[in-house]
Amino acid sequence: MLTINELPKHIAIIMDGNGRWAELHGNDRIYGHREGVEAVRSVVEGAGEIGIQYLTLYAFSTENWNRPKEEVDALMGLLVQAIVAETENLHKNKVSLHAIGDIGSMPIEVQQKLAGAIAKTSENKGLKLNLALSYSGRWEIVEAAKKLANELKNNKIDKSSINEELIGKYLPTFGLPDPELLIRTGGEFRVSNFLLWQIAYTELYFTPKLWPDYRKEDLFEAVNDFQKRERRFGKTSEQIRI
Ligand code: IPE
Ligand code: IPE
Ligand code: MG
Repeated sequence: MLTINELPKHIAIIMDGNGRWAELHGNDRIYGHREGVEAVRSVVEGAGEIGIQYLTLYAFSTENWNRPKEEVDALMGLLVQAIVAETENLHKNKVSLHAIGDIGSMPIEVQQKLAGAIAKTSENKGLKLNLALSYSGRWEIVEAAKKLANELKNNKIDKSSINEELIGKYLPTFGLPDPELLIRTGGEFRVSNFLLWQIAYTELYFTPKLWPDYRKEDLFEAVNDFQKRERRFGKTSEQIRI
């Protein structure tokens, strides 16, 4: 049973296990990535149904550029296909699309299709779907540090104004609340350079299920688990209960 008042506002997901899923099914890794699109559809739909406000999906990391060229090319092609195929449906479901990461490093076709889908869905008031593409937590912190250094040099800000809130403003996730729940599929217990700053107090949920098998019911199970946790933020259990 999900309780409405303890719903996470923002869920982040590391969608892992496509390659192993494909191998299990006697096929190449690309096949796993293609099947992963169905899982994305189901989870986006489910998140909207239960009233999640923000969903951030880790689709391609900075480190994923180091994969074999054929796999990277296939992933970029799939991304274009998925954006083209899904935009209408997202729009109908009032989803607005957003992206974080080094988008300028993506192939031009991805950039164009992505920009089109973002523009088309920008007025939608339902779920905010945020794709992390060519993204890593350390990358965005380095970018923020560069911008901050520039502002200091040009006397746009004063050293005394640097605090957590200000740093948050220099990150591409500015405007999004920190995720309350981070889900990783595929059975690995690591964060692989995802949202390092934003997950300081996020509840982590790991499942062995491989991403192409993941569906909205699995998301609901993770939310259910989240709702049983006591989030203490450094305080004592007693302080939380009053
Ligand atoms: C996640 O699945 C998709 C991306 C990282 C793009 P993987 O491709 O990492 O699948 P495994 O972990 O090798 O099974
Ligand atoms: C994390 O998965 C990145 C994405 C899901 C996009 P990886 O498969 O790349 O992570 P590692 O290499 O196992 O840490
Ligand atoms: Mg993986």
